[in-house]
Amino acid sequence: MEKFIVKGGRRLTGEVTISGAKNAAVALLPAVILSDEPCVLENVPNISDVNISLRILKEMGAEVTMLGKDSYRIDPTRIDKFCVPYETARKMRASYYFLGALLGKFNKARVSMPGGCPLGDRPIDQHLKAFSALGAEYTLSQGMIDLRADKLCGTQIFLDVVSVGATMNAILAAVKAEGLTIIENAAREPHVVDLANFLNSMGANIMGAGTDVIKIRGVNKLYGTNYAVIPDQIEAGTFMIAAAATKGDVLIKNVTPKHLESITKKLEKIGVNIEQYDDSIRVYVDGPLVKTSVKTTPHPGFPTDMQPQIATLLTLAEGTSIVTEGVWEQRFRYVDELRRMGADISVDGKVAVIEGTGKLMGAPVKACDLRAGAALIIAGLAANGITEIEDIFHIERGYDCMEGKLRALGADIEKVNIPDDAAQNNQKKNAV
Ligand code: EPZ
Repeated sequence: MEKFIVKGGRRLTGEVTISGAKNAAVALLPAVILSDEPCVLENVPNISDVNISLRILKEMGAEVTMLGKDSYRIDPTRIDKFCVPYETARKMRASYYFLGALLGKFNKARVSMPGGCPLGDRPIDQHLKAFSALGAEYTLSQGMIDLRADKLCGTQIFLDVVSVGATMNAILAAVKAEGLTIIENAAREPHVVDLANFLNSMGANIMGAGTDVIKIRGVNKLYGTNYAVIPDQIEAGTFMIAAAATKGDVLIKNVTPKHLESITKKLEKIGVNIEQYDDSIRVYVDGPLVKTSVKTTPHPGFPTDMQPQIATLLTLAEGTSIVTEGVWEQRFRYVDELRRMGADISVDGKVAVIEGTGKLMGAPVKACDLRAGAALIIAGLAANGITEIEDIFHIERGYDCMEGKLRALGADIEKVNIPDDAAQNNQKKNAV
């Protein structure tokens, strides 16, 4: 088992380069299945969710060749298995994109119910609604989802909730369906647009991605393409907040500033200085941080995947801040860990009230999910003393070498191995 040890109190300064977006890459990789020719994907982040997606593709019969540190050639032409088994699928939420991609290409799919971060109830009813509308039948048994269709036909799909996953799965399944599909109340996240752009570069006909109505005219064949994944909006936002929390001065490179607008606006309200360039953003602090209120909503609102990080920053700001979670049922599980570090936060349902104390203290803590883990690293960087963060596998699902990038900015963070016995003893100590 591995953990991070962070010695807090160092200002982050210098430059950092953001990797490709996790939530785009985990959809683009299954989307390659739809192509009738090999594709090359660049700017693919080196994270465990991507490695699992690549493993699933190989297990199905795709030929995967690494061309460089972040680029892959994937030849899907020999895929002859249509099943994603339990052991691999349960490790990540995004395994559900194999449902849409396999259904769209072969009219059948068998995928285990997805795993992923524990954020409360995570139904997939809207995904199934979209597949059914396109003409597929599904059965759920023994934790597996089976999809079958004689033929997929274009249709009108109204999503009852704005769902990133259901929107992307509906696109994947509809791209080769006969006729016109219209997805209404679609999610507008940058990764939805990236998936549509990728498929269009393969010859698909998708219009309106980035708005809440997406129109897809089915095509018979998709061709090979060479495509770079967009920069990770959430990794960029996480580094923006790490810079702010340490009162640092950091140039964050390989970003799309437009995707960061809601984060930028909130940080400016808190007192953080931000300079935007074409594909980079400078973040620095030269005055006090002040309270604000934040509510997470689907794009273009403030992203839920930045909620734990901004809440952590607000523990360092003057005054009382309110953070409201508008997407997930349970996204405040990290608060107990921040309290160990001296944060004064009370939670009532989906609302957290944060009394900014201006300081945090190092403590042993545990990452309970991906963004919670990132928030604890930020807390550790800003805290007095040493913070030890366990269960960092959550962080490695979505951040490409976070500790290396932070060290290059001057942070004192290292990854150490702890024998499993010691980890279990620690767990017992923490439990009492
Ligand atoms: C994606 O999850 C992201 N994951 C999440 O990233 C992110 O938090 C979330 O979108 C919201 O932006 C990936 O892209 C792999 P949703 P997804 O479907 O698609 C409800 C991270 O830290 N809902 O948009 O699973 C659902 O319960 C993470 O990187 C239904 O009711 O999220 C939630 O309340 C974790 N029925 C809301 O919609 C459905 O069929 C939004 O979920 C689907 C969703």
